[in-house]
Amino acid sequence: MNILVTGGAGYIGSHTLIELIEAGHHPIVVDNLANSSEESLRRVGTITGVAVPFYEIDLRDKDGLENVFQDNAINAVIHFAGLKAVGESVAQPLDYYQTNLGTTFSLLEAMERHNVTSLIFSSSATVYGDAKTMPITEDSQTGIGITNPYGQTKFMIEQILRDYSVAHPDWNITLLRYFNPVGAHPSGKIGEDPSGTPNNLLPYVTQVAIGRREFVSVYGDDYDTVDGTGVRDYIHVVDLAKGHVAALSNAQPGVAVYNLGTGKGTSVLELIHSLEKAVGKAIPYKVVERRNGDVATNYASPEKAARELAWKAEKTIDEATADSWRWQSMNPEGFNNSTS
Ligand code: NAD
Ligand code: WQD
Repeated sequence: MNILVTGGAGYIGSHTLIELIEAGHHPIVVDNLANSSEESLRRVGTITGVAVPFYEIDLRDKDGLENVFQDNAINAVIHFAGLKAVGESVAQPLDYYQTNLGTTFSLLEAMERHNVTSLIFSSSATVYGDAKTMPITEDSQTGIGITNPYGQTKFMIEQILRDYSVAHPDWNITLLRYFNPVGAHPSGKIGEDPSGTPNNLLPYVTQVAIGRREFVSVYGDDYDTVDGTGVRDYIHVVDLAKGHVAALSNAQPGVAVYNLGTGKGTSVLELIHSLEKAVGKAIPYKVVERRNGDVATNYASPEKAARELAWKAEKTIDEATADSWRWQSMNPEGFNNSTS
């Protein structure tokens, strides 16, 4: 199938391109490079031997997007494009609402004009807000206790897509709720390349390990968890990417929702110690105050995806940290000036 991948130059998108190509699909990328670099697409070409067609446009550019749909006979869309930094969304709420909702609107309009009726949307475990019963199943509460505009955009887009499905019941819409994506392609050629200070734990820890930052701040060690630090469900990005390929081949009319996680919780200190094994040296950290808006524990029930998509995460946390370290050490400055 010809698959339009919005945000395909980004972290999860670029890894998904590889899995799509390996499964025999033909991806086409639209990205405005707001948080990525074209180098990631060049590297995907090196890994797969396939040059993925790329359109550098903002998805909200309706004429530009129309050209993409006219140039390509698109069968399905995977919609990764959007802004994703939680803290930034608190400081710049309008940017987040305009970008995340606006890109989705113009995409749906273009799909409708061209009778493309299959869509996979990147949602997030953040829609579960402060849900407390673990593991989190897809029918857990959503929308209550979401603490930032980024999370609200994911919750709102899910609702918009449900409303859209009522009006267009023949469309296949899949909402994939990712838990905490980590790791990198095992080649070390592509990975997560945050600009500025990383928002997420593992990229921060790898930057400490490579010497770009002094120590990790561990946000609290007095939670009711195995060692007092926060517990999350870290899923290897290659497993996550494969979940999209599985969802594509299982698309059915209506809205289907799946958690993409491992079902296993890992604490902050366990993650740091796992990376220490990969690096072969101690990683300095300091325990500081809890971070506002954090919950103690969050992990998925991945059973529904296993049952209906025949997909489950295969890679361990040690493989994820080893792959992140390979990416970081082969590319100390990310895609800029790197040696791969
Ligand atoms: P990313 O920032 O690496 O990728 C997003 C891509 O979208 C970037 O390449 C960016 O340049 C592009 N983009 C942004 N605005 C655009 C616009 N207006 N037009 C065209 N392209 C635009 O992020 P990621 O980690 O790969 O996340 C992909 C998706 O998954 C996002 O929707 C994100 O919210 C969601 N998600 C991510 C995580 C995570 O922790 N990484 C967790 C859950 C959900
Ligand atoms: C993980 C754990 C922190 C940084 C966020 C978004 C969520 C989703 C995934 C997009 C927590 C601790 C972190 C640090 C630390 N993104 N930590 N020191 O908060 O689970 O989820 O990313 O949809 O929406 O909210 O991920 O990586 O920020 O934190 O101790 O420097 O690491 O307290 O326990 P989080 P994270």
